[in-house]
Amino acid sequence: MNVIIRPDEQSVTDTAYLFVKDRMNRKRYRVLGLPTGGTPLRLYRALVEGHQRGDIDFADVHTFNLDEYIGLEGDHPQSYRHFMQVNLFDHINIAADNIHFLSGLPTDIEDECEAYEEAIVELGGIKLQILGIGRTGHIGFNEPTSSLASRTRDKTLTRETVEDNRRFFDSDEEVPRWALTMGVGTIMEAREILLIATGRSKADAVAAMVEGPVTAMCTASALQMHPRTTVILDEAAAAKLDEDEYYR
Ligand code: GLP
Repeated sequence: MNVIIRPDEQSVTDTAYLFVKDRMNRKRYRVLGLPTGGTPLRLYRALVEGHQRGDIDFADVHTFNLDEYIGLEGDHPQSYRHFMQVNLFDHINIAADNIHFLSGLPTDIEDECEAYEEAIVELGGIKLQILGIGRTGHIGFNEPTSSLASRTRDKTLTRETVEDNRRFFDSDEEVPRWALTMGVGTIMEAREILLIATGRSKADAVAAMVEGPVTAMCTASALQMHPRTTVILDEAAAAKLDEDEYYR
């Protein structure tokens, strides 16, 4: 795991942007895995600006998002599909057919998840998977006790995750408790992984991911077993790392 510590959120974004731009300008990196959440917002803005400057072309790029809430239509303002549309897809030259998303209203959950896995394989696999991390140490919605070999499936969200998501909804009752998510095993098949984390609330999860044991209690710790993972952190998210001098 390559750990990069930057002074603040803006420099995390700048570093992550250069990393993604570099990969996207290589022919074989045309299939991306994407996260939602507050953390990647600045990176998505930077990618839009990079596209507007002519530095990044999305014409033949395919994207697979990590997860989606069960029960929300793709055009629901709090759906992850909608989040991606307004924060990224509306502003870049990606073909609509190249945007791959799990449905929040699947007719059959197993079929939906299997078809998603098949679509990834058909396109030759995800080349760069971008990730955030939840307070429970989750990647995608792979909450603690998720199998580290898990595939795309439905998952119940923990109380902490529901609380964290509450800020986006009008009332407690509206916050989904259930989601579809790529599995840890699915994520681990990406050729390269970039995880970004900022802010003090992520410091415990980051320390568990980087320096803790590999355990299903922190599914991000599985990334210790991935051959090409880069983690970009701000000082606040890196605050609980014991070996921070070494990473610097
Ligand atoms: C959700 C998403 C994750 C994301 C996490 C952290 O749980 N499923 O992919 O990493 O939120 O979100 P934020 O970046 O808002 O802290």
